[in-house]
Amino acid sequence: MANIDEEWPLAVLFFPPIAFMRAIILLLRFGGSTIAFGSDLSNSLILMFCTGSVFLVIGPYLHAVLPGQQGTGIVSHPLFCCSKRWWAKSCGRLKVEPSGRAITASLLTPPGGDDDEEHGLVYHEDPDVAQERERVSHTAPSNVPILINSLRKVYQGGYSSTAKVAVDNFCLVVDPGETFGMLGSNGAGKTTVLSCLAGNIEPTAGEAFIGGYSTATELDYVYKLLGVCPQFDVVHTDLTVETHLQFYARCKGVSPERLAAEVMITANKVGLSGDAFGTPAGELSGGMRRRLSLGIALLGNAPVVLLDEPTTGLDPDTRRSIWDIIHAERVNAGRSMIITSHNLEEVDVLCSRIGIMTHGRLQCVGTPQHLKDRFGGGFRLGITLHEKSHAARVDAFVKESLTARATRTSLINTSVMYNLPREHVSLADVFARMEDAHHNHLVQFWEVSQTSLEEVFIRVVENDETQDD
Ligand SMILES: Nc1ncnc2c1ncn2[C@@H]1O[C@H](COP(=O)(O)OP(=O)(O)OP(=O)(O)O)[C@@H](O)[C@H]1O
Ligand SMILES: [Mg+2]
Repeated sequence: MANIDEEWPLAVLFFPPIAFMRAIILLLRFGGSTIAFGSDLSNSLILMFCTGSVFLVIGPYLHAVLPGQQGTGIVSHPLFCCSKRWWAKSCGRLKVEPSGRAITASLLTPPGGDDDEEHGLVYHEDPDVAQERERVSHTAPSNVPILINSLRKVYQGGYSSTAKVAVDNFCLVVDPGETFGMLGSNGAGKTTVLSCLAGNIEPTAGEAFIGGYSTATELDYVYKLLGVCPQFDVVHTDLTVETHLQFYARCKGVSPERLAAEVMITANKVGLSGDAFGTPAGELSGGMRRRLSLGIALLGNAPVVLLDEPTTGLDPDTRRSIWDIIHAERVNAGRSMIITSHNLEEVDVLCSRIGIMTHGRLQCVGTPQHLKDRFGGGFRLGITLHEKSHAARVDAFVKESLTARATRTSLINTSVMYNLPREHVSLADVFARMEDAHHNHLVQFWEVSQTSLEEVFIRVVENDETQDD
């Protein structure tokens, strides 16, 4: 290493940390007396300024054009700064109107494209899903709050795993004021769809629009319309509830004059305006953190809200109060929402339409009643026997008096369950015959109910597994 008093080679001063260290040493040792042009001190300062300026440009450029891990973040074209649009936007001269273009039918291909055909796989698309795809093709993105067109996401595998198709040709339109429920088994691709909508990850193919703005190219505008409650709470343990709400409200463009009122209204909405208001997030219970995440999503009157499993892990009481909040937001504020959940009662209560996903594909879509009619087996008849040994007699009674098509779905101790196909029974007959059986002491208790969403879900998932086999 060169002596501290000798001049250092110019090349090493190109490294800003070395130039900085050299400049500090010289300043401490000789003060400003060595600053003459061409001296080591002036060279260090000039080179620090030049390299710093270059890094200031290269850093944001690489951030914009390189994807994060597994394609997270939206990646710009390498020549993005050559476009007129970028310069106009950077100079604040661009006023973007919603893209508003109708989607061309050629973009819309049913799942299982050429790849699957090559591998001998034939995918039969559900008629309702095909109709939704058709609807997407005729809808201008600016006319609806959420439009997803042929979305596909493939996660590239690491050294030890192969690429994973997480979402495959997913199409959906959400109408104004609609709450859409997205169901699916673990790993079905729900979070991936929401992450593409929120601009957290870049889709491999397809496009998505929020309020007519593309989530790929108009993310700045998308953020102003969007509230997101992620599956896992993202809170800063040292910040209080109040500070969280203030911070996110400012990020969403709430003006300083309205800030305090907006924060208080939101804290009230999610039940965090009491003692919890000044408590650091690290000291909140899991349910309270979930409320905080929900509050952050609802801040700033975002017209579109994405809620990823908003009530997972909550006690029944808290869960119901969150249902009330979500319901009120739809009815009073007219927000459009997508909710994912594993709680089928939740989507049945909150959502006007439901879609069930498996293996990244939408398997069925429609109102809860429509799905129950299409995929449910009809009615469920539950009977409590006086003794388990009466099961055979009751079996014969149900088949002879109600319908020969009745199928016994379970027999546990004295409790037996039948499935009655809707088209082969009349409810009036079932009531009359079962009342007779009760009076004749053949059965102890009985009940009849409609197929639940849970049965629909299990049937749809099982159907998909059989198709795959
Ligand atoms: N960063 C990632 N890298 C690789 N694969 C991923 C990544 N994130 C998700 N996946 C895979 O993509 C598929 C879909 O995952 P996703 O989280 O969207 O499912 P999900 O329906 O939200 O499941 P859950 O109900 O468990 O939350 C899964 O098979 C998952 O393993
Ligand atoms: Mg998920």
